[in-house]
Amino acid sequence: MKVGIIGAGTMGSGIAQVAASANCQVLLFDTQPEALVKSQQKLAKIMNRLIEKGRITPMAASTLQANIEYVNSLETLADSELIIEAIVEDPAVKKKVFSTLESFVSTDCILASNTSSLSIASLAAACQQPERFIGIHFFNPAPLMKLVEIIPAVQTSNTVKNKARAIIVGWGKLTVLAKDTPGFIVNRVARPFYGEALRIYDEGIADIATIDWAMKTIGGFRMGPFELMDFIGNDINYTVTETVFKAFFYDPRYRPSFTQKRMAEAGYLGRKSGRGYYDYSEDSKKPNPVEDQRLGQAIVDRIVAMLINEAADALHYRVASAVDIDTAMAKGVNYPKGLLAWADKMGICTCVERLDALFEEYHETRYRCSPLLRKMLKNGATFYPEKVSNKNN
Ligand SMILES: NC(=O)c1ccc[n+]([C@@H]2O[C@H](COP(=O)([O-])OP(=O)(O)OC[C@H]3O[C@@H](n4cnc5c(N)ncnc54)[C@H](O)[C@@H]3O)[C@@H](O)[C@H]2O)c1
Repeated sequence: MKVGIIGAGTMGSGIAQVAASANCQVLLFDTQPEALVKSQQKLAKIMNRLIEKGRITPMAASTLQANIEYVNSLETLADSELIIEAIVEDPAVKKKVFSTLESFVSTDCILASNTSSLSIASLAAACQQPERFIGIHFFNPAPLMKLVEIIPAVQTSNTVKNKARAIIVGWGKLTVLAKDTPGFIVNRVARPFYGEALRIYDEGIADIATIDWAMKTIGGFRMGPFELMDFIGNDINYTVTETVFKAFFYDPRYRPSFTQKRMAEAGYLGRKSGRGYYDYSEDSKKPNPVEDQRLGQAIVDRIVAMLINEAADALHYRVASAVDIDTAMAKGVNYPKGLLAWADKMGICTCVERLDALFEEYHETRYRCSPLLRKMLKNGATFYPEKVSNKNN
């Protein structure tokens, strides 16, 4: 199958590698010739590393590399059956690319965007045939992250939705279907992981090292919220939070933190700048957490209750199915459990009580309990009825 990828940056290069490893004939286009050269060099480096580790044979690596052609003219993509755009996150630039593409691609070519924050409907509206348009959202690094969110716009035809999903499944990915709403699944449901951790820190309830220790040791998360923000970059993480906040018409649940804004403004971006919440210089020592079990448990309970509330609300508003929400968080951001399965295990009553206690304390709508959780409590319902009845689970 012929696949066109537009943008040879971080995501475009990764997606090209994924498609090429599934034996697609990939044409990778970028307006910057140096981006194409860098992309090709990066892939060669990755292949050499995989060969050294014995994960790929030299023959398979050269086949994969030969499956990607680096092109400097958009028109070369004319015969593609699927084109995925992964360029700069600017709606005007993206729309222009799609309307240009439509002047020469075939009428059944699927057009897709890897956008993290723009509405799929607004991009589809720039096309003559909006029913062929869809969101296909990969995670970074695309070759390693199993999850892909498939986001049909209101205009997308069912045929295109099913075909696009089948293609990505054929590339070995785990797909979840998400409604075209801000942050889709992962970038929405994950907000409290950062936001509530920042709030706990801002209020002086615990320091950064203690919050990270609690979430890892007691909560079972692979990285603490501050370690993860430093890893993602405080500039990027702050921008995602602010974008989601604005896109939800300034719902206070998503309000960004001044602490993170100041970190981004100061250039304390995290690992990439050598300093973020932690100091990454060679002779620096990581601060010690206060290993207080009761405090740690309170931190975990509060952040997890807020995460569960967000997941329940996403289900309430039909952003995705319960299974897809849980899969997305387990595979897209490596959460130790699906949040809705976690809610079942914890008890819906406990979730509601924890959220109500926070609301009682702050009287902020940020802490309002999802109507779905309240309804479930009233009806004695669970998210996964069969699993909960099994006591060994
Ligand atoms: N980086 C991530 O973690 C991540 C994750 C998921 C989705 N996304 C989304 O993927 C897209 C790309 O992000 P990225 O991080 O790979 O960006 P990037 O800056 O690494 O790469 C973008 C590339 O697009 C090229 N480009 C810009 N305008 C172009 C045009 N008109 N035509 C062709 N090429 C053009 C640039 O030269 C650059 O090489 C964005 O929409 C972003 O929201 C990013």
